[in-house]
Amino acid sequence: MIKADLKNMFFDKLGIGLDKPDLNDLNDKLMEAKNKFLDEKLGFKRLPYEYEAIKKDLDKVRKLTEQMDTIVVIGIGGSDLGTRAIQRAINGLYYNQKTTEDDRHSKNIYFSGDTTDPEAISELLDVITLSKTTFFVVSKSGNTVEQASTFAYFRDLYLKKNLKPQDHFIFLTDAVTGTLRELATKEGYEAFDVPSDVGGRFSVLSTVGMIPAYLVGVDVEQMLKGAADLDTEIKNSKGKMDDILTYVGLKYLYYKGGKNISVMMPYQYGLYEFAKWYQQLWAESLGKKVDLDGNEVHEGQTPIAAVGPVDQHSQLQLYNEGPNDKVLTFIAAEKSRKDINLPDDYTGAEAFDFLKGHNFHELLNFEQETSAFALTQNGRPNATLTIPQVDEYHLGQLFYFFEVAVSYFGNLLNINTYDQPGVELSKNAMYGVLGKKDYEEVKDAFEKYKAE
Ligand code: PA5
Repeated sequence: MIKADLKNMFFDKLGIGLDKPDLNDLNDKLMEAKNKFLDEKLGFKRLPYEYEAIKKDLDKVRKLTEQMDTIVVIGIGGSDLGTRAIQRAINGLYYNQKTTEDDRHSKNIYFSGDTTDPEAISELLDVITLSKTTFFVVSKSGNTVEQASTFAYFRDLYLKKNLKPQDHFIFLTDAVTGTLRELATKEGYEAFDVPSDVGGRFSVLSTVGMIPAYLVGVDVEQMLKGAADLDTEIKNSKGKMDDILTYVGLKYLYYKGGKNISVMMPYQYGLYEFAKWYQQLWAESLGKKVDLDGNEVHEGQTPIAAVGPVDQHSQLQLYNEGPNDKVLTFIAAEKSRKDINLPDDYTGAEAFDFLKGHNFHELLNFEQETSAFALTQNGRPNATLTIPQVDEYHLGQLFYFFEVAVSYFGNLLNINTYDQPGVELSKNAMYGVLGKKDYEEVKDAFEKYKAE
């Protein structure tokens, strides 16, 4: 399970900041936040237990893509970031360049649809063969401009090549509503359901993340099991503190004390995309104008995705000596799935001999620990979450850990953690500007704003 080391969040270590009694004072509010989470009917809490339910979808999709050598995920935000996080963490950065002899690697995977930048869209065409590619158009609403436009463009390319688009597009979308669902019914595209009670940024453990991940060799059963085991632990500790609650309680108190920034800095290179997934989860869930009683509150803690040691040499200076307005979270692994030893004898220069006999995993963990040390010396609160290694089981657990964490945090803030009116506003403006029916009002408002 994930181990949370929170000692560098306290006065004892920092010389300033929160003390244990501060957290004790919050105890009742924390219990309330946890009970609310446990009592609430939230679709994403069900997902860890749904492996059997989605297995038939996985089998079907494997058959449908049997003849293809590439899949492309067309998604954005919650329809995209989780799948990228899985791919990077489990399969690594150079996965597409590996030979197909590697038995995990039956298909290449690319991501598109997260931008309408024509350069990025055309680049994809340089590396795929359309006749051997399946595009997964992932959109819960089934209407979003980025996915719709990318789909329209690639669909047209198939038609121009006299290839049937239905053989190359699979939709992951709401079971009932949205244009993609209508199109699937009307024109015979294969479509798999995104559960209607699961919001985009909480959907990674649904078909949204699990279907593409399965096709690139990820053990999705283990991933769901990791999340389910954590969920069970949380349920079993009803009425008691748990690590997530303590972590959130401290972050909440620091936030209320003016630390408006939350940096996520894993020290496993493969978790960089995970940090970006976290960034969306934290930003969209907590950034809210009104609370549940309708008061204008403008809550939210700004998340930053970083990765160590890369950002140790770029952002850490600011974190150590700039404004003390941040809480950092490190993620470390006890071991790397592959390790490399440094030479035992000569390292190439006497001045490098301090490296003799070490291995790269050791270096990585020392770097994380020394960063935590430096921050602590400077009175900067930081937490370290440790997993045994980056694998499917623990990645599933990390996803779930932060989904629960953000729910607890949202309950403490008394906000709706699961909506995103600010995102909808810009989506609607875009529909209006492009002349979509029923969006005339927002179009007029936009034109007025432009003219002023
Ligand atoms: O988390 C969210 O709700 C958003 O980031 C959505 O996932 C994103 O806007 C894409 O929406 P959709 O999947 O409906 O196309």
